[in-house]
Amino acid sequence: MAHAPTSSNPLPLASGGSLRGTVRVPGDKSISHRALLFGAIAEGETVIEGLLPAEDPLSTAACLRAMGVEVSEIAAGKPVRVQGVGLDGFLEPNAVLDCGNSGTTMRLMLGLLAGKAGRHFVLTGDQSLRGRPMRRVAGPLAQMGAQIQGRQGGNYAPLAVAGQRLVGATVHTPVASAQVKSALLLAALTADGPTTVIEPAQSRDHSERMLRAFGADLSVGGPGGTEVVVRPGAQLRGQSVVVPGDISSAAFWLVAGAITPGADLTVENVGLNPSRTGILEVLEQMGARIEILASRDVAGEPVGDLRVTHGPLKAFEIGGDLIPRLVDEIPVLAVAACCAEGVSRIRDAEELRVKETDRLAVMARQLGAMGAAIEEFEGGMTITGGKALQGAVLDSETDHRVAMSLAVAATVATGDSQLHRPEAAAVSYPGFWDDLARLRA
Ligand code: S3P
Repeated sequence: MAHAPTSSNPLPLASGGSLRGTVRVPGDKSISHRALLFGAIAEGETVIEGLLPAEDPLSTAACLRAMGVEVSEIAAGKPVRVQGVGLDGFLEPNAVLDCGNSGTTMRLMLGLLAGKAGRHFVLTGDQSLRGRPMRRVAGPLAQMGAQIQGRQGGNYAPLAVAGQRLVGATVHTPVASAQVKSALLLAALTADGPTTVIEPAQSRDHSERMLRAFGADLSVGGPGGTEVVVRPGAQLRGQSVVVPGDISSAAFWLVAGAITPGADLTVENVGLNPSRTGILEVLEQMGARIEILASRDVAGEPVGDLRVTHGPLKAFEIGGDLIPRLVDEIPVLAVAACCAEGVSRIRDAEELRVKETDRLAVMARQLGAMGAAIEEFEGGMTITGGKALQGAVLDSETDHRVAMSLAVAATVATGDSQLHRPEAAAVSYPGFWDDLARLRA
């Protein structure tokens, strides 16, 4: 949904210049949410290093505090301590739980709260989140006995959860979504009997890795890791978690480096979990010059430093099972496509219509304002590259990934741009504008 820009002044985005230097992107958003949530339901203390100090994880922390979980202050460079209350320890909150802009907070929380028998919870969020579908979680959870009510037949927040004793089940998820899968895995931890979650294609597997590290009895099988089995009964124990940098944030620099003449950027400490590295495969398909400088394993997740330099790019085609592995990078890949020779095609990306905004429509509209040749269709878009982007008055339409993708586009445009609502970037990358200014200097 497009919202009218606020009256605040737009951010000037100068075109031209290059990008050089080293950048360390903030902690992975998906892993940060999970570290807070799993720490809360474990026994004992969890210490998190590198947690993303941005609005979305702050929403998760605020909800946990409202249910009696002690979470220390969240600030850049400071380890975060979570005092676990155990699998059944959440107190009934005496106010509505506000998930802000964060779909991960709301959906994972639904799975966690559904099995808290005898307790009542109400969840809401900002205007964007209140318009995002929740039946995809509430429906499968109902197969385990969950009772979740909401607007329009339970699809939209505010949502009320009447905690129940849940039963284990075999559940097929309607979409390849890590948020849906994770909600079911969390509900399964306290169900009577084992639960099997079967996805149509594998989504990111951070929950599986981290739940196992916390001591859950969980196994992954099926074609391509699409079936996850949880057996309840295991106690989770507080852990020391090290959060790698977010590849979804690194993606802005990877594309910026690949499309900006003269660019030479190194992005340090990037999480390279294979369920997230689709962007690297596409950039490789495009002929981008990207090197993995040092790869290592940090607390159960692969991590590396990436160097990108400018060079000519070819068009790409993406669809099918690759989409869940780069779902958040499609807005910035649309920018890359504008700068590539030939016609790029993005298919099977209907999920983008139910993100923080309808990202297919918003990117087509905003890049269209810069003169891009984009044809939008239900499940994706066709982008004819090689035509210079022009500076324009742009709007993030409140979406963090749109804000940062448009900043990348503005760098290579002929003529300066202005961006309304740039502050949206703080949802996942509060230091983005500072990093951009530094790398351009
Ligand atoms: C996330 C999963 C993805 C992704 C989102 C974070 C997660 O959403 O787009 O930014 O942390 O599980 P879906 O599960 O809806 O695909």
